[in-house]
Amino acid sequence: MGNNSISTVAIIGAGDMGHGIAEVALLSGFHVVLQDINDGALNKGVMRINESLGKLQEKGIISAEQLQTIRGDLFQTTTDITDAVKNADLIIEAVPEIIELKKELFRAIDAAAPAHAIIATNTSTMRISDFSGETKRPDKVLGLHFFNPVIMMKLVEVIKCGDTSEDTMRAGLFFCSMLKKTAVRVEKDVPGFIVNRVQAPSGILLFSMVDAGVATPEEVDATVRMIGMPMGPFEIMDYTGIDVTYHACTYYAETVHRDFGPGRVVEEKIKAGNLGKKTGMGFFDWSKGRPAIDLTKTNDAVDLGDLIAVQVNEAAKLVEMGACRTGDIDRAIVNGTGNPFGLMAMARGMQPPDLAARLEGLSEKYKKEIFMPTESIRKGLYL
Ligand SMILES: NC(=O)c1ccc[n+]([C@@H]2O[C@H](COP(=O)([O-])OP(=O)(O)OC[C@H]3O[C@@H](n4cnc5c(N)ncnc54)[C@H](O)[C@@H]3O)[C@@H](O)[C@H]2O)c1
Repeated sequence: MGNNSISTVAIIGAGDMGHGIAEVALLSGFHVVLQDINDGALNKGVMRINESLGKLQEKGIISAEQLQTIRGDLFQTTTDITDAVKNADLIIEAVPEIIELKKELFRAIDAAAPAHAIIATNTSTMRISDFSGETKRPDKVLGLHFFNPVIMMKLVEVIKCGDTSEDTMRAGLFFCSMLKKTAVRVEKDVPGFIVNRVQAPSGILLFSMVDAGVATPEEVDATVRMIGMPMGPFEIMDYTGIDVTYHACTYYAETVHRDFGPGRVVEEKIKAGNLGKKTGMGFFDWSKGRPAIDLTKTNDAVDLGDLIAVQVNEAAKLVEMGACRTGDIDRAIVNGTGNPFGLMAMARGMQPPDLAARLEGLSEKYKKEIFMPTESIRKGLYL
């Protein structure tokens, strides 16, 4: 199919991501069919879209006519998967991060969608090839990884797996440009892609520090907030759900390296059912609203240079593997996280031998092979 022959987009799953992707597609003039498993979930997604579109109109960002067109002609909803995809040119699944659920959905979509349609997954961590093989059109399967909240975050990682054709990649990139998003190509099917993959080892470092009694979650968050970050990493994990972190770590441990397994601190929270904001208790107590972190509890053992070092090392591994270009790392981090500075830009202040020695020290201290400096870091190639 040609690049610009996408006119109908089916979004499967109307949750946090699905409703957001549907909204930006509607705003760019695509005909959108939004699908979810029941009326309750579907209506919730529609309400969120309507609310957000209403605000855009109030602010004068869209006109009353545009809103009318979206509500009248462009937008359809259904709870039936066949109905949702039967006329679609592009299908984007945004259902929960459960591999068997997504595989089953890929089979159902493949059976009901027109032969020319492209099928994309918005998975945050999983390899695209986990799903392409479930279809009879593996060349038309790719990753389109949007960031939350979709309306605000500019980045979409466009991910190629071994099966994905270049035509499908071009169609994905073209679609992102129509949405006025910043697309970054990910050329290899690496778990976590760019942003999540680069951030994964810093999570592992923080869990190792807590498990070793070097710092508490509150001390980590207080120290990170000292540099002006609005939320610390443990509060963010509470906010998104500790189960999300747990499943991501488990998947990386199975597919990348055993060192990515969740630390004891995470396992204990999962066992106790303390998943963060949604259960009222996680690393912090959310029962009375946002937890008050004691910002005086900073801890010198929490060295932000260590967090940057393990992320740069992971980024260098991605470049070595040919998953992306060096320049795309910072484009992805800035547009996908809202951080004003890119990772590689921050790392340029570090001397390559110091960076390599720092990584060796962390690897030794926490017994993690994944922190060992990769070859290009030793050679100072990206700094
Ligand atoms: N939330 C984030 O920050 C974020 C960011 C990027 C990517 N993602 C990824 O996007 C995907 C969706 O995440 P989310 O946060 O929107 O989840 P969510 O739980 O907010 O929404 C998922 C929706 O899918 C629906 N659903 C469940 N099974 C379904 C099925 N068989 N068919 C149709 N709909 C079904 C649910 O009813 C729910 O409305 C996941 O793969 C996640 O990893 C999430």
